Amino acid sequence: MCGIVGILGTEPVAEDLIDALKRLEYRGYDSAGVSTVENGVLGRCRAKGKLKNLQKALNEAPLQGHAGIGHTRWATHGAPNVTNAHPHMTDRVAVVHNGIIENFKPLRERLEKEGAKFETDTDTEVIVHLISLELKKGSAPEQAVQAVLTQLEGAFALAIIFAGHDDLMIGARRGSPLAIGYGEKEMYLGSDAIALAPFTDRVAYLEDGDWVRLSRTSATIIDERGQEVERTINRSTASAMLVDKGNHRHFMAKEIHQQPEVIGHTLGHYVDLATNRVQIPDFDIDFKTLPRLTISACGTAYYAGLVAKYWFEKYARLPVEIDVASEMRYREAPMEPGGLALFISQSGETADTLAVLRYCRAQKQHVAAIVNVTESTIARESDATLPTLAGPEIGVASTKAFTCQLTVLACLAIKAGVERGHISIEQEMELVSQLVEVPRHISTILNDEHLFEKMAHGLAHKRDVLYLGRGSSFPIALEGALKLKEISYIHAEGYAAGELKHGPIALIDEDVPVVVVAPKDNLFEKTVSNMEEVAARGGQIILMTDDKEAAASFTTSSSFVVPRAHEFTNPLVFAVPIQLLAYHTAVFMGTDVDQPRNLAKSVTVE
Ligand code: G6P
Repeated sequence: MCGIVGILGTEPVAEDLIDALKRLEYRGYDSAGVSTVENGVLGRCRAKGKLKNLQKALNEAPLQGHAGIGHTRWATHGAPNVTNAHPHMTDRVAVVHNGIIENFKPLRERLEKEGAKFETDTDTEVIVHLISLELKKGSAPEQAVQAVLTQLEGAFALAIIFAGHDDLMIGARRGSPLAIGYGEKEMYLGSDAIALAPFTDRVAYLEDGDWVRLSRTSATIIDERGQEVERTINRSTASAMLVDKGNHRHFMAKEIHQQPEVIGHTLGHYVDLATNRVQIPDFDIDFKTLPRLTISACGTAYYAGLVAKYWFEKYARLPVEIDVASEMRYREAPMEPGGLALFISQSGETADTLAVLRYCRAQKQHVAAIVNVTESTIARESDATLPTLAGPEIGVASTKAFTCQLTVLACLAIKAGVERGHISIEQEMELVSQLVEVPRHISTILNDEHLFEKMAHGLAHKRDVLYLGRGSSFPIALEGALKLKEISYIHAEGYAAGELKHGPIALIDEDVPVVVVAPKDNLFEKTVSNMEEVAARGGQIILMTDDKEAAASFTTSSSFVVPRAHEFTNPLVFAVPIQLLAYHTAVFMGTDVDQPRNLAKSVTVE
């Protein structure tokens, strides 16, 4: 999603804007731009594609202003070209925007009738013209912005600078996140604390509906009722975060390899390692009397929720409803008051997930969230926040956040099972000890990483790939297919193995590899039958299992054997080989692994 940065500095800010934008690259973008105000005059530089193109353009036509805004754009309205790249501006005002202005069409029609000349296909440009009109009428910048904000519908974060005002920047937030960074005689705006980390660790988050007037020495925040308010300034930990690839070729590789460590950290937070009992801090929901659990999320986080449904139902006998947030937000699902609604989100900012959270709150549900960013909107709007301790995840394709989400969900399912009387203390201790083994199993898999390079050759350049799994391996098959399509652009689909004969079997021939996720559990033989059906039709099977004999005896084009773990922890263990398979296929095909085309890390629009 789009990234925003703004700097009121004491020297030319263009280079710092680019540095901050680099730290926002992980969100996904297809063009970028900066604008500064120099001796009262606005200047701008934009480029299609990566930041290096913007840097090149800036080298040719430098901007010298000490106040500036920058943007990485993920196209929503209008193609990703230079004209549509932000900042958008007139000679009076320059704006960068993250989000969507839903009523831009009627606004644009009205403005055009009044004589405004539009240059772009974007929704953002209406904001520029609206503010310019107000300024033309003689309004001060603050009044102009305030008047315009009331006319906008949709979700947005904005950073705005003005001709003739070298010590002024206005930021506004409705829906999309925006942080203020407090420096020494300098002030900043940014989409997140990671962008601001090189400049300051003193960060305050605007609340929904807030706007802020910044000078180099002050920040005045006004809330949606027009009242001046204070927002807490936190010490951000983002500055301590090393946003580099270490010895790895890609962030995704680094993040796959971090999994033993970060799962260990996450477990350390949720289990008492001395007693092997689950201990969830700041979580006082009583599972014993809970009528129902509703889970909602998007993308990979949704698949983590789908695994958890198997866990909660089997180990805690707790009815679970789960749906992707983009559907659940409009389904008008009836909910008995007093249920628990659980949201899973790496970023904590996904617009659809947040919308379901608000719906569930209105339905009188307790609201809990598993998030990786604890300052995020979803975290702040939840009654209970369960952090994943994965550290910043930069690769667009989620890996370590997924396995950390599973780790938290596994602990929660055990707690629910104990409280509901379906897991004894001894069983709890056994399940926890199995969870504690997971980092070791994953390290063993990572030691065999070279085997995936060869396996990836079998997938590269194929048109379609199927992934099959049963039980809690079914969501892992879905996640495997998602990983592959996201980063290699090969069409991949995950199926419940039992559904094979209801459609996908029609696709099987010698050109369609079928990745089968088949741990030796109570469903193993059933999955083997489905593999036979594939083999009988000449399909190429890539088998992921923990059963050496099966791997040796079954005719597969390739197989990978993971360490034998407990049935409960298998989804965590099998998540890793499917990540490695997708990663090495993408590397082999030469795609942009960390920033795949068209994708965004944090999806703050519908
Ligand atoms: C985007 C990302 C996915 C992620 C999904 C949900 O599509 O590319 O990797 O799973 O959003 O994001 P969240 O931050 O809510 O987990």
